[in-house]
Amino acid sequence: FSLKNYNTFGIKALAKSFVEVTSTEELTQVLKDNQDIFILGGGSNMLLTQNIEKLVVHVNLKGIEVVKEDDNFVWVKGNAGENWHEFVQWCIAKDFGGIENLSLIPGNVGTTPIQNIGAYGVEIKDTMYRCEAMNIETQQMQTFTNAECEFAYRESIFKNELKGQFIITSVIYKLTKKNHNLNTSYGAIDAELAKMNIENPTIKNISEAVIAIRSSKLPNPKELGNSGSFFKNPIISKELYEKAVQQFSEMPHYKVSETEVKVPAGWLIEQAGFKGKRFGDAGIHKNQALVLVNYGEATGKEIYDLSKLIQKTVLEKFGIAIEAEVNII
Ligand code: EPU
Repeated sequence: FSLKNYNTFGIKALAKSFVEVTSTEELTQVLKDNQDIFILGGGSNMLLTQNIEKLVVHVNLKGIEVVKEDDNFVWVKGNAGENWHEFVQWCIAKDFGGIENLSLIPGNVGTTPIQNIGAYGVEIKDTMYRCEAMNIETQQMQTFTNAECEFAYRESIFKNELKGQFIITSVIYKLTKKNHNLNTSYGAIDAELAKMNIENPTIKNISEAVIAIRSSKLPNPKELGNSGSFFKNPIISKELYEKAVQQFSEMPHYKVSETEVKVPAGWLIEQAGFKGKRFGDAGIHKNQALVLVNYGEATGKEIYDLSKLIQKTVLEKFGIAIEAEVNII
C-alpha cells in the first residue's frame, strides 16, 4: 500500500498493510487484533525514510462540537482526524478567538498537542484545555490536562516520556467569545495588516494576514512536498551566542531567558549557502530556508541525507547544532 498521499512530503514509501479508523470503537478493535502497528495522523510532520513493515493505522475520527460555554469562553472539541486549518476556519466563522494565528498550518487536530504547534507568537498550549487519548496497550482512554501535556517549544510529553504509547483521539480548546486577545506582536502580521489597510483587526483579519504571509513564504504541500519547518530554531546559551556574534555580527536572535537565546535556523541555513539549492529532487525552499522540499521523486533517504549535510555545515560554520523538528521514520 503506497503512503504517498498520506504524508505531506509526498514520499513514495510502502506500508505492509493499511487500515483507516473512523471511531474509537474501531480503533479499540484494531489495537486488540494487532500488535505491530504504526499510527498515522495528518502525515504533516514526518519523513518516511523506509517502508513500514507494519499495519499502518490511519486515525480519521471526524467531528467538531461545542462542549461547554459561558459568557466569555467556549470550549470546542475537535476529533483527531479533523483537518487543522478547517477546524480553525470553523472557529473563526463563529467568532471564537485564540487560534487565528495558527491558520494554514498543515496537519490534523490530533497532532496539534504532540509537537505544540506554533506560529506568529501563538502556540497550541495557549488554548488547549485538555485532550483525550487511547492507551495503545490497554485501549483505556485517558484525559490529559494542559499541564499534564508538559508543553514546551515544539515539545510535549507525547514526544518524550509517552512517545509511542498513546493515540490522541480528540482535543478541546478553550476559546474566547468576546474581548479576543489579539496577538499581532509578530512584526510580519502588523506589516501585513497595514498593507490590508486594517487598523482594528478582527480575528478573521488576523487569519487572513497569516494566510497571506504563509502563502507567500511557505510552499503548499499539495503543490510541492514538504513538512513545514524541518528543523527547530536552536536555543543556545548566551555564551555560545556571544562567541558566534563576534564573527557573525548580523546574526538575529530572540531572548528566551536570562541565560539563553533562540536563533532562527532559517538564517543559519541561508548563510550556510543552502537556500533555494536543489540536489536531485531534494531541495531547500527558495523563500524559507527552514523548509526542505521534495520536487517529486526524492526518497526519504535523500531528504534525510540533505538534512544531515545541512546540520553538519551549520555546525562547522557557526558552532551551533540544529535539531530536526519533523519525526524521522
Ligand atoms: N530567516 C532567514 N532566511 C530564511 C528564513 C528565515 O534569514 O530563509 C530569518 C530571518 O531573520 C527571519 C527569521 O529567520 O526574520 C524568522 O523567520 P520566520 O518568521 O519565517 O520564522 P521561522 O523562525 O523561520 C518559525 C516557525 C514556523 C512559523 C514561523 C512564524 C519553527 C521551527 N518554525 O519559523 O513554523 O510559521 O516561525 O511564527 O519554530 C513549522 O513549524 O512548520 C513552521 C512553519
